[in-house]
Parts: sequence; structure tokens; C-alpha cells
Amino acid sequence: LWIIEWYTRLVKKIHDLPTPCLVLDLERLESNLDTMSRFAQERGIGLRPHAKTHKCTHIARRQIERGALGICVATIAEAEVMARAGIRGLLLTGEMVGEPKISRLIRVIKQAPDTMVVVDNSRNVEDLERAAGAAGIQVSALIDLDIGQNRTGIQPGEPALNLAESIGRAKHLQLKGICAYAGHVAHVVGFDERRAHSQRALAQALATRDLLRRHGHNVEILSGASTGTYNIDSYIEGMTEMQSGSYVFMDVEYRKIGGKSGSVYEDFSPALCVLSTVVHRSGNKAVVDAGLKAFSTDRPFGPEPFGIEGVAYEFAGDEHGRLVLAGGDVQLGDKLRFIIPHCDPTVNLYDRFFCIRSETVEDEWPIMERATGAPYF
Ligand SMILES: Cc1ncc(COP(=O)(O)O)c(C=O)c1O
Repeated sequence: LWIIEWYTRLVKKIHDLPTPCLVLDLERLESNLDTMSRFAQERGIGLRPHAKTHKCTHIARRQIERGALGICVATIAEAEVMARAGIRGLLLTGEMVGEPKISRLIRVIKQAPDTMVVVDNSRNVEDLERAAGAAGIQVSALIDLDIGQNRTGIQPGEPALNLAESIGRAKHLQLKGICAYAGHVAHVVGFDERRAHSQRALAQALATRDLLRRHGHNVEILSGASTGTYNIDSYIEGMTEMQSGSYVFMDVEYRKIGGKSGSVYEDFSPALCVLSTVVHRSGNKAVVDAGLKAFSTDRPFGPEPFGIEGVAYEFAGDEHGRLVLAGGDVQLGDKLRFIIPHCDPTVNLYDRFFCIRSETVEDEWPIMERATGAPYF
């Protein structure tokens, strides 16, 4: 009997977690990872998933174990965390502009020599060349192409060719190919509409690739694709790898875009939730302890209750959310899970994932190695 009692005390349940917190359903995560890696293998396309979504070395390692070529990162800090953890095949999808970032990049490349970085400006090429020359290392580069997002990236065609020429002149830079991420297409609602948009955007990347090759430049990599377009872009001839990220967790925003065969996008299942506690219950009023600080607020919609019907959520301040009870009910102290509106910026609000299997808390994984203190349990 004492063994059972001891074991029961040792096994931590969702109910023991400090709310609000991130709970990561490991079965769903593993299923999402398997689905994407199987898809990429069957399509014969590389997968270098974006770690900006999870910022977690444990998840990156699981992606690599399932055959990923490496991991994309958005920031130099993400690159450092991943490189330190032994993750290789890094692709920095954000330009490293300015001495502070370039010197950190050089250190990352010394640690992880196959790291690649995107460039979209010849001045940046010169700065990288100078730093790489001084350090005596080679830097692998992809041309970041603006195929319609109007963020970073050089224009397709002639401007990209000129940039390829300046990379060609830099002795310590090696051109590997093109990064063509169409972020403006990822959430286009309706599969057919999304496919049409993505094909149009990527046609510019294919034309630029051909132009560069005609001038003798190496374009062995053509990288792109989001969670919304993985099963579109992978059918485009010449795409060599995908950088989808959100598929690991999913979110309300992605569920709204519609899948190939339905109005809810369900190729991947919601694996990440914010867990909250009902901290007030009176009359028809119910309030949880997860508010503006617990979810990203960059979208016109809020979180969606998970596993409970007839209950909706509305923001009610920094630390609170109001439940609109429409047929469903909750009691004081209940733990409620919410699918998050937008996964990347929500994850960024926390320092760890509590990993669950069924109702049991199996592990804690740090986000950006921030949870460096003692584990919660
Ligand atoms: C450059 C880049 N690549 C890939 C991704 C991953 O896209 P998603 O999370 O929609 O799959 C993002 C996400 O914002 C991105 O900025």
C-alpha cells in the first residue's frame, strides 16, 4: 500500500500545475511531428522546421530524430541556444545586420559550421565577408527573396542576381541557394485559394533560381513553405525544403484557414494549450486566471476552450478572462484548457512547457533555456 501512496504522491497531475501555464500534450505533439516528417519523406522533400514556434531544444531534437535536415531559427539568440544544445543544420531566416549580431553569428558558425544565414543586401554581404575573413571561416548564405510579403528580402530577378554576384565576389561567403518564405500566403482561407496564391508567389522564386543558375550561381537549396502551404509548396517542382513551424502546436488562427477537405484545418491537432483555473463563480459569471498576459493578443480573436462545450472566452484584463456560459458550466477551482490564438507569440510569454500524457505531467521543457531555476516539481 505504501508503494501506491508514494507513487501517487510522486505522479503529478494536470490539477497540480500552477496556472496560467502552457501544457503540451505529448501524444498530440508526437503525432504532429510524425505526420509532417512522414509527409516530407513521402514527397521526397527536405524538412528544416522553424524553431521560432517552440524555441525549445527538446522539440528541435525530436524533429531531427525524425529526419529533419536541421532547424530554422529567427534570431541570433535562438541560433545560440540551438547550437549550444548540439543542434546542427541551422538556417537563420532573419538577416544578421550590424556588428553585435554578426560577431555572435561568427561564434555560432565556429561552433556549428554548417549554419546558414540569409542575406538581402550587398552592404550586409560586405560586412559578413569582412567578419568571416577576420575570423578565418566560411559563411554559407541563402538569398532572402521577397516574393510578396513586403518584409525583408530582395526583389526577385535582376536585383537578386546582382546580390548573387556580390556574394560570388566575397571569398568567405558561399551561396547555397534561395530562401523564399511567403508569410502573406500562410493563412489565406480556403485550400484552393491558398494554393493559387502560393503558386503565384513561388513562380517568382523559380524564375529567379533559373536566372541565377544561367549565370553560373549555385542554387542547390530552395527553401520556403509554412504550415498552411506544406501540402502545396511540396508539389512545386524545384522546392528542396520546407520551413513550416506552427504544425507542432497549431493554434486558433491556423484552424480557421480550412484544410484540403474541410472548413477546419485539421491536418495537425492542437497540442499546446494554456491551462487556467476558474477563480470566480457567481450567478452567471465565471472568471479564469488567464488574461491578456497569458495569451498573445495580436489577433482579432481570442483563445478557444478545449474539451468543453457551451463556453466561450473573452478577455477581462491582464490576469483575467471571462467565460460566456452558453449551455456549458464550470465550478470554482476547475482547470480549463484553451487553444491559443497564435502560437509563436504566446509561447514567447512563458519560460517552460509542462508536458503531459493523458492527465499526468511527464516532463518540463524550458523555452529558450529560460527556466534555468529548479523545476516546478
Ligand atoms: C521565415 C519563416 N519561415 C517559416 C515560418 C513558419 O511558418 P508557420 O509557423 O506558419 O508554419 C515563419 C513563421 O512566421 C517564418 O517567419
